Amino acid sequence: DGFSAEVLFKQGVSYTYDDLIFHPGFINFPTDAVDLSTRLTRNIQLRTPCVSSPMDTVTESSMAAAMATVGGIGFIHYNNQPQVQASLVKKAKSQRVAFVPDPVCLCPWDPISHIDRLKETKGFSSVLVTEDGKVGSKLVGIVTSRDTDFVLDRSTEVREVMSRDIISAPADASLEEASKLLIQSKKSLLPLVTESGELSELLCRTDLKARRENPESGSPSLDANRKFLVGAAIGTRESDQIRLKLLVEAGVNVVILDSSQGDSIYQRQMIEYVKKVHPQLDVIAGNVVTAYQARNLIEAGADALRVGMGSGSICTTQEVCAVGRGQGTAVYKTAAVGNAMGVPIIADGGIANSGHVVKALSLGASTVMMGSFLAGTDEAPGDFFIQDGLRLKKYRGMGSLEAMAKGSDARYLGDKSRLKIAQGVSGSVAAKGSVLRLIPYTLHAVKQGFQDLGTPSIRAAHDALRSGGIRLEVRTGAAQKEGGVHDLVSYEKRRF
Ligand code: XMP
Repeated sequence: DGFSAEVLFKQGVSYTYDDLIFHPGFINFPTDAVDLSTRLTRNIQLRTPCVSSPMDTVTESSMAAAMATVGGIGFIHYNNQPQVQASLVKKAKSQRVAFVPDPVCLCPWDPISHIDRLKETKGFSSVLVTEDGKVGSKLVGIVTSRDTDFVLDRSTEVREVMSRDIISAPADASLEEASKLLIQSKKSLLPLVTESGELSELLCRTDLKARRENPESGSPSLDANRKFLVGAAIGTRESDQIRLKLLVEAGVNVVILDSSQGDSIYQRQMIEYVKKVHPQLDVIAGNVVTAYQARNLIEAGADALRVGMGSGSICTTQEVCAVGRGQGTAVYKTAAVGNAMGVPIIADGGIANSGHVVKALSLGASTVMMGSFLAGTDEAPGDFFIQDGLRLKKYRGMGSLEAMAKGSDARYLGDKSRLKIAQGVSGSVAAKGSVLRLIPYTLHAVKQGFQDLGTPSIRAAHDALRSGGIRLEVRTGAAQKEGGVHDLVSYEKRRF
């Protein structure tokens, strides 16, 4: 019944995730027994098969720290000066699990309207007040919505309503000690302060609750020094050698060569350079979509491959350049080579729901890379805004005119061409809350998918796919429609 992957993918058709549907297998284990631990590269293991994309509306230090907290990893984008990117890596690595390293602060003379603005753009209304509105200066108060709800004149200064009676913890308090204090205090925030009273970090009740709801959050992705694992993107130009040096000095754990068509002499030379200068550093190459490209980059020394061309939600590469591949087919074909040669595949782009994650991992990927899926979270760079009654965040392709204007042309132009041809668009995505909730919730759904398939781990799914144990079919347009919500006038979509 159905087809083995080998037969299905031989037919000369490019399939996306939505074209494909898996047949259910036999269940003889509970959902919680599903093991989603995986390999990011030849040498890096992860507990969670999710990584965030190196895009300037997706991954900076907060996202990288959050992704590592939930057992995945984030790749800091390089649409910035090398020093800035290195400082973002350093900042992500210096964060402690669950603590906010640079909480937003106000100064005592700021008007309450600033808190209204923070609520709109950042989503919170409890704010710390320091002498000069910065972290590292003396903590003088806390304002919560209870202090400001009924103040009609929003130009009133914060110092008139803030509470000066602050429960805080010493700067060197452990998470256990600080959590205990926060819970006992029944407050929403616990600032950590130095002996002389300067604000150093913050612990939030909401983050503690998210950790409690996700019992597995006790095992973040850490390096040998017990710092968060953090990745970063670089290009393949000579100037990227300096970038690489700064990133390594900042403690980066893995680099990804960022290109929409990775099978090039430039990537080969860069892989060689990284291996020669930093033999301990794993390097991910890509993007690729064919077995031929995959083999070339593996032979050049890549420690993992990033797979996808034109499948991203903001991508127009396939339309503009006529090259690419349906993401289901791309993952299957490259993974067949990668898995045989011991090199993990990162399925990059086109992930819109947990079913897509199940499909990517079952088709041979070891991790999925996400852009739009994460761009609406609290940890993505940028502020929220309200449009047509919806809370949104900006999300843009790195090949969009807007991003290229900031410097990302290298990925899409490759040379000093003066004509800028966009290979991506900019837009917005809906607010989704914190990564600390979104990823564990999504992974639970992914585990249910693995249980339905009858495969208790990613490795088991790869083996079953290869042996023909996983059966699949192509869905017609009508079947895809039937598989989604239909025939309702309206319905409520889950918001995180
Ligand atoms: P999702 O679907 O997760 O895709 O939003 C994210 C991936 O899309 C790629 N990317 C682009 N592709 N033009 C493209 O053709 C672009 O402007 C662009 N920006 C990002 C990238 O691989 C990312 O991880």
